[in-house]
Parts: sequence; structure tokens; C-alpha cells
Amino acid sequence: MTTTSKSEQDRVIIFDTTLRDGEQCPGATMTFEEKLNVAKMLDDMGVDVIEAGYPFASDGDFEAVHEIAKRSKNSVICGLSRAAHKDIDRCAEAIKPAERGRIHTFLSTSPVHMKYKLQMEAAQVYEMVISSVTRARNHTDDVEWSAEDATRTEFDFLCRCIEAAIKAGATTINLPDTVGYAVPEEYREMFRKVRETVPNSDKARFSVHCHNDLGMAVANSMAGVAGGARQIECTINGIGERAGNAALEEVVMAMRVRADKLPYWNNIETTMLTHASKTVSAATSFPVQYNKAIVGRNAFAHESGIHQDGMIKNASTYEIMTPETVGVKGTSLVMGKHSGRAGLIHKLEELGYKLSRNQIEDVFVRFKALADRKKDVYDEDIEALVGEEMTLGQDQIKLKSLTVIAGTHGPQRATMKIDVDGEIRIEEAEGNGPVDAVFNCIKALVPHDAKLELYQVHAVTEGTDAQAEVSVRLSHEGRSMTARAADPDTLVASAKAYLGALNKIVAKRSRSVREETQAMVTAI
Ligand code: KIV
Ligand code: ZN
Repeated sequence: MTTTSKSEQDRVIIFDTTLRDGEQCPGATMTFEEKLNVAKMLDDMGVDVIEAGYPFASDGDFEAVHEIAKRSKNSVICGLSRAAHKDIDRCAEAIKPAERGRIHTFLSTSPVHMKYKLQMEAAQVYEMVISSVTRARNHTDDVEWSAEDATRTEFDFLCRCIEAAIKAGATTINLPDTVGYAVPEEYREMFRKVRETVPNSDKARFSVHCHNDLGMAVANSMAGVAGGARQIECTINGIGERAGNAALEEVVMAMRVRADKLPYWNNIETTMLTHASKTVSAATSFPVQYNKAIVGRNAFAHESGIHQDGMIKNASTYEIMTPETVGVKGTSLVMGKHSGRAGLIHKLEELGYKLSRNQIEDVFVRFKALADRKKDVYDEDIEALVGEEMTLGQDQIKLKSLTVIAGTHGPQRATMKIDVDGEIRIEEAEGNGPVDAVFNCIKALVPHDAKLELYQVHAVTEGTDAQAEVSVRLSHEGRSMTARAADPDTLVASAKAYLGALNKIVAKRSRSVREETQAMVTAI
């Protein structure tokens, strides 16, 4: 949306409750330092209101809210409080150092909550709304009141409580879908009707707060805004009680990408969204699901050959926003068994390789074989394949097959078939361990007196299906030859690396013989 089309009426306040509703969910507890770090990031990112915690809950929570209130530069710092006066006073103390502080006090209004949780009559609840908001208003003029479980509250009673809260001084009215029960149309209608019915509704800003129990938190939030709400309460990565809250990154990007249908704006610096997601995930140790909208690791990744082909031709074929908009460096074409030639050629170019058509065909066949055995094929895997391709064809000794019997009952045995300049040789050998058996087999197949100087294995990538890269150095007649080979099977990689070094020795020897012959010819 361009600056000229922005109107204050369409502005949506982003109220982040990662440090309160997010942090209070099982397992997401953050340390004091982690909370400060998250708060700083939210402040830098343009979040309008940071709900920094619930100060009455513990001294730790109080200290965190207090410190965040001291440090934050741009955001309003908010503390949550129940309706009891001692809660409200403690909250007020916690947010005191903030340049702009808010008290957010709440009380349940639904029949089920009033009867079982509060064990109070509606009339008592009504009185408590007034007394709590009045108390909060004595501390600050920025007071938010929430009707907990608003979506299951009887409409007339909800309207009476809202009217009383506004009259007592609440400047923001939040109507949470506490149990994630609403559907978008009914949530939108609730806001529309409440704003139409409550006589002083124009004196307050209305707010949505949606839980994700039916997976509709973001849709409901946007529906509430369509119904007239102008504040969205949300969390980074959607963390929160039970199934979580509406995800900040999703509501923000929904408004950004679909401004045609959701003509509202906010102040979030979207290029920080991925960083924010990672920061919160690291602080809470809550992993982000791979296919999470906007910030999941697959959000801008394409593996299918058809999609990769489309993406190479034009990114708009399969992406509705650029990865850069949310702070991701770029689209990633993930190489796997679904990738096609176009994807591989693109990847090779990206890695800086210029191969002939025949070489590409060869690499493609071996890439497909590798992808069938290995879930993800990383750049390093492709590089290893290209490396092999570059030396292939020049080799006089080629591995055709290898079978190794290993385990607790030795001796280990290897059976190997090789092609030496078109001649097929097969041998079997034992060894003190499987690698030794493989190397003994090679010695039986190609007798030589080169000495093994180095044998080194490392995983090219992560995971148990990672390719092993083996380096072998052989010394022969005072010279050392090193070769490397990669394969998901360490023993195959070992055999290839050994044969690679041996091939270099053989190639050197034939070159010397050629050079000697040449010298003789020239002498004659
Ligand atoms: O879900 C909810 O109702 C809440 C309130 C405390 C606002 O988190
Ligand atoms: Zn909540």
C-alpha cells in the first residue's frame, strides 16, 4: 500500500503478546535475558504495543516487565492484570518506567466462566468491571479492558459491560475468542453489532484476540478487523495457550499481500519477520513447523520439477510474495527426487559449473540415483557429483560393484568387481574391519606397492543419510596422490577414493611411459 492511500482510520495497531500469552503456554518459558532480547526485537520491528508479561504472577515476571518498560524506545509497554486491585497496582508499578505504558485488565463475562471459574453473579461481574477499570485508570490513561470468553458471552450483557468499561475510562476494548470457538463471519458480526449497539463505542478502539483451536485464529482476526476492530493481538510464530494465538507474521503479511481485500495498514518492518521467528523459536525452544506460513523453512522452497521449472521462468508462477519481503535471502530450489533437469541445470549454474550436455546428462542420472537413496540433496552433494563427473571417464580403473559383509563376527569380507580398461575383474578378500577388507580386495585386484598414508572420513551434510566424503592418500615412488569420493555408503566412498588415488598413480605412470617413449623417438 502506498503512503498516499494510508488513512488513520485504516490503521491497525499490532499488539504483540508473545511475552505474555505466548510465554504462558506449556514449555515456552523464557529467561529474563531472553525476554529482554525478544522485547528489543519487537520494539525495533515496529510493534505498537508489547504485552511484556503478567507482573502479579511472579517476581520474575514483574522484573522482566519493569526492565522492558525501562528499555523500550518506541512501543507502548503493557502489563496484564486480573480485576483485583492488588494485581492492578502491581502491574502499574511494573510499567511505570515506560515512556508510554498500558494496563490491560480482564474479567470473564461468559455464563460458563462466571458460573464455574469466577463463581460470581453477572451483577457482581458488572460491578467489578467498573471498579477494575477505574482503579487502572487512576494509574494511567491508557487502559485496555478484555471481556474474557467474549465469543461465548450473552450479547446484551457483553454490551452492558463494554459500555461500563468505556465509561470508567477504558480506551481499548478487547473481545477475545478465548477458546478459539468462533468462525469468521460470526466474529465479524459480533464487532459490527457491538459497535453499533454500545452507545459510547466510538470512544474506544476495539481489539481482536484469537486462539487457534480450530485453526481459524488468523481468519477470525481479519474478520474482526473487517467488523471494525483496529487492534490485533497476536504472537510471533503463533505461540500461545493450547493451539496458540493468531501469528503476527501471518496477519501482517495477509494485510500486505492482499491489500486489495484487506485495505488496512500497520507499521511492522516485514523484513524482520524471519529474524523474529528465529529469535522466538530459539528463546522458547519451540521449533517452527517446516510448512509454517511466512516463516517456515519450506515457505519459499520448491522441490517439484514442474514448480522449479515455473520458478526459473518467472517467480510469480508459484510465489505470492518475494522472500526478501520477509527477510529471507531468496527462493530455494531444493534438489530432491522430484526435481527435474531444469532445476539441476539452474542449481549447477548457481554453483558456478559449466558442464557439457553429456556431462549434465551423466550428473542428472547419478543425481536421480542419489536422490532416490537420500531425502535431501544439498549443494555439497551436487558438488561432489560434479567432482566425480570431472574425473570420470579419464579413469582406467572403475568400480562396478561392491558387497561387504561386516558386523560383530569377523573377519569382515569384501567382494568387488572392477573394470580395468574394459577388462572385468572380480575378487574377494578379508580384512581386519570392513574398510581393511575393501582395501585388501583392491590390492588383490590391482597388485601394487603404493602405501596408504591417509584415510579420512567426514559427513558432507547432516543426518544419518548424509553422504560420506572419504579422502585417501597413497604414496608411490616418493610421490603422494590424494583422491576424494562421496557416497551415502561410507565403504563405497572408501573404495572409490582409494581407486581414485590409484588411478592418479596409473595415469602418472602411463604419462611417464609416454614421455619416455617420446624422448626415445626424438633421440632416434
Ligand atoms: O485469551 C484470552 O482471553 C486472554 C485474555 C487474558 C485477554 O488471553
Ligand atoms: Zn489469550
